[in-house]
Amino acid sequence: MQDESIIKNYNLFDDKVLDNTIRPETIDEYVGQDDVKENIRVFVKAAKKRNEPLDHVLLYGPPGLGKTTLAFIIAHELGSKIKTASGPSIEKSGDLAAILSSLEPGDVLFIDEIHRMPRYIEEILYPAMEDYSLDIIIGNDGNSRNIKIDLPPFTLVGATTRAGDLSAPLRDRFGILSKLQYYTQDELFQIVKRTARVLNTEIEDDAAMELAKRSRGTPRIANRLFKRVRDFAQVDSDGRITLDITNKALDRLKVDKMGLDNTDRDLLLSIINKFNGGPVGIEALSASIGEEVTTIEDVYEPFLLQQGLLKRTSRGRVVTPYAYEVLGVEQTK
Ligand SMILES: Nc1ncnc2c1ncn2[C@@H]1O[C@H](COP(=O)(O)OP(=O)(O)OP(=O)(O)O)[C@@H](O)[C@H]1O
Ligand SMILES: [Mg+2]
Repeated sequence: MQDESIIKNYNLFDDKVLDNTIRPETIDEYVGQDDVKENIRVFVKAAKKRNEPLDHVLLYGPPGLGKTTLAFIIAHELGSKIKTASGPSIEKSGDLAAILSSLEPGDVLFIDEIHRMPRYIEEILYPAMEDYSLDIIIGNDGNSRNIKIDLPPFTLVGATTRAGDLSAPLRDRFGILSKLQYYTQDELFQIVKRTARVLNTEIEDDAAMELAKRSRGTPRIANRLFKRVRDFAQVDSDGRITLDITNKALDRLKVDKMGLDNTDRDLLLSIINKFNGGPVGIEALSASIGEEVTTIEDVYEPFLLQQGLLKRTSRGRVVTPYAYEVLGVEQTK
């Protein structure tokens, strides 16, 4: 019975509380993304030496790879305070103006999901990013005027799962663009071991490696799966996480050897069975599996593409021969 409730509460992409307790705070604790980290180290050092704010940073890549974490780390390394906002929550230009005018010298302003900010609001950011000034219009039609307010030097850190949706003028105003990559098994292994340490749980190395293998290259998923496996270990034995318990738990959670979950398999099987292997348009695929187009594009597809299970062609999505092999389906055409 206990097991069923564990499974019901299982959601790979949402666990803010857990995220906050195990989020690394310094750049040295941040595993992987070596190129991105190295660059940021240099740029932070240089900015500090010149006593200037760090250039604006855009972090992009699939969900759960550590964009928010890195934004906080950047502020930490700069020794700066961080203010946070998110694209969809900034509804009026006044909202953004208020946030900008509350900044203090050297602050980091983190805007999550920056691609979801309406264009007319985005335009307020241009002068703010370029010359730390806020241009606002006050008054109404007949009697309006422009005023210019100086802002303190600050660093904007934007995060997005879709760099392609950012307007060119906004993208061009970021001096540092960093793309986060899926993590290797070794890196995820280290992340799992670290999480176990932080949460005071014993995990055997082969169990940690198995979790790493099945985490879709994504730290957030590694941590979530870790937590679920820990539940099984606590209920079924003495709390120590062994390979046996890990395999059993992950099988029950329907996470396969490659880390594919039900939705991944559904997506691939639907292309195979309903669309003859593809090509199929994203809208048709979305209707067929009952997932939003944006969820497919942002969450599921990038990993399937990276693993060589799926291809994007000009006529739509196509599964690869490798996908047939992995799913154990005979390829008929
Ligand atoms: N490099 C890393 N080393 C260790 N832990 C990490 C790393 N990156 C991410 N994590 C862990 O993964 C969790 C998810 O990371 P984070 O919230 O930063 O992802 P995100 O890219 O902002 O995701 P989203 O696109 O959904 O906002 C964090 O709680 C953190 O503990
Ligand atoms: Mg985030």
